[in-house]
Amino acid sequence: MKTSRRSFLTLSGAAILLPDQTHAKTPASEPAPWWETAVAYEIYPRSFQDGNGDGIGDFIGMANRVDYLADLGIDAVWVAACFDSPNADNGYDVRDYRKIMPDFGTMDDFDRFLSRATQRGIRVILDMVFNHTSDEHPWFVRSRASRDNPWRDFYHWHDGKNGGPPTNWNAVFGGPAWTLDPATGQYYLHTFAVKQPDVNWENPDLRKELYDILRFWAAKGVSGFRFDAITSIAKPAILSDLPARLANGYHNFADHGERMHFLLRDMNREVFAGTSLYSVGEAYGVDRRQITAMTAASRHELTSAFRFDLVLGNKHKTMPAAARLRAFNASNAFDDTPNVWPLVWLEDHDFPRAVSRYGSRRPEYRQRSAKLLLTMLLSLRGTPYIYQGQEIGMENYPFRSIDDYNDISARNGWHEQVESGKITARAYLADLAQNSRDNARTPMQWDTSPHAGFTTASATPWLAVNPNYKTINAASEKQDKKSVLSYCARMIRIRKTHPRVIHGRYKDVSPESETLYAYERTDRTGTDLIVLNFSDRPAQFFLPRTPASLVISNISDTALPRDTTLHLRPWESLILTL
Ligand code: NOJ
Ligand code: CA
Repeated sequence: MKTSRRSFLTLSGAAILLPDQTHAKTPASEPAPWWETAVAYEIYPRSFQDGNGDGIGDFIGMANRVDYLADLGIDAVWVAACFDSPNADNGYDVRDYRKIMPDFGTMDDFDRFLSRATQRGIRVILDMVFNHTSDEHPWFVRSRASRDNPWRDFYHWHDGKNGGPPTNWNAVFGGPAWTLDPATGQYYLHTFAVKQPDVNWENPDLRKELYDILRFWAAKGVSGFRFDAITSIAKPAILSDLPARLANGYHNFADHGERMHFLLRDMNREVFAGTSLYSVGEAYGVDRRQITAMTAASRHELTSAFRFDLVLGNKHKTMPAAARLRAFNASNAFDDTPNVWPLVWLEDHDFPRAVSRYGSRRPEYRQRSAKLLLTMLLSLRGTPYIYQGQEIGMENYPFRSIDDYNDISARNGWHEQVESGKITARAYLADLAQNSRDNARTPMQWDTSPHAGFTTASATPWLAVNPNYKTINAASEKQDKKSVLSYCARMIRIRKTHPRVIHGRYKDVSPESETLYAYERTDRTGTDLIVLNFSDRPAQFFLPRTPASLVISNISDTALPRDTTLHLRPWESLILTL
């Protein structure tokens, strides 16, 4: 369908948000698109597997681990930022979108990985960082050279105001979102770090360049793209200050209105229409209504989106884990909106480990909580994304000093908050230990050999391995039928053999409790009940009837209940067919 801007502008308001059976993504007669039945897995290349002994993960290493992913039951891999970059933000500052980051290998290495993955039935999704480039990208180098060159308008350049930046906007990684470039006396805009200038999506020549890059990778055989910071691509047409109360710290200044949707539709029409390519957006800072508008099939924008309300939502931060997850999952099922296909995730490379955030603090319940979280992740409506290491129950790293961190956001924060005397080192480090992105970025724990089998280098890898690797590692867990890894593989198999866990209706049937969470997934053939005890204490749950079968439990000796009272042990999770 050709969409002009005019026709887009007439499409506004509530009408697009109503349940839309006529545009259902999966009419009963057609098979579901692959992303509905797939289990996806994120690889953070720097930390996954080093293949050449230099202490940094790479595509040789990834290719060598394709069998591991296939055995686990993974259908699609999202490879986090992997293009040539000066690494101000670990690859999220791209210098050349058609070149593999030399740290990660060559284009031949990438091709070998792609072909190996394809042979094992695993699709590859690449991470397109299109809200900004590196300041070392040739477009920016040319753009900043003068005020009147053809690339000037590829970025957002503005004059200052009253001797300062054009607006009071701040950057995600600290400091103002504007940096003065002495060469031309104007400021450029960067939502993230100084070395990550935002590109100007309003410029059709820039958009054409971006779309050509997508076609280049699609022609190689990748199955889709994850779009980094996609909700930041549209900027307000009129620059104005945020209210003074928002002038401290980062506040989203992007335009989430019609321009964002127009740009997404433009990209969809130019690149995705008529292909089977998948697109998934990183949708920071937008609400459920916008998620619906961005991902409803009838809108031709994105296939699906990562939401952040769960991991960021302030109002939920004080709620117990089970209550927080319940609230989010209810809003994310979208089973009343069948033309929206949601996405479920608990971990990625930007957030601490799920078992450390939502699981038990008691070591004896660590494994059980990791399995409970996988039970939930893999029994909800939406494509589940597992983040590397989640399948073996990896935990946060025991950070002690600022020198233990690599992340630009941790280091900039130290400079801005501690060195300036705003908060004490102790308070900053305590918060960082809980929340740092580096918690998720320590190397994958493969086995009990030095550096957990991540690298053969004798020196410490680019980020140290979690000292708990002797107990938490893939090789040991593969041997152990009761491990988190073995459980994860079983849960993935269950998801694939229980279509109602994928497409069934979602109904929260939790009792009045802060820690007991239960939901049903129902289709024409029956109902599965999922019960999760988020507590160090036992609990009871009253079943609507005596269940027909026990599908899975995270405790190996759990038996099918013979009556309607379910006795749950601490952190027990199970799925029953009613
Ligand atoms: C989101 C990415 O996941 C994160 O790692 C990165 O720092 C920002 N976007 C900026 O590209
Ligand atoms: Ca390497």
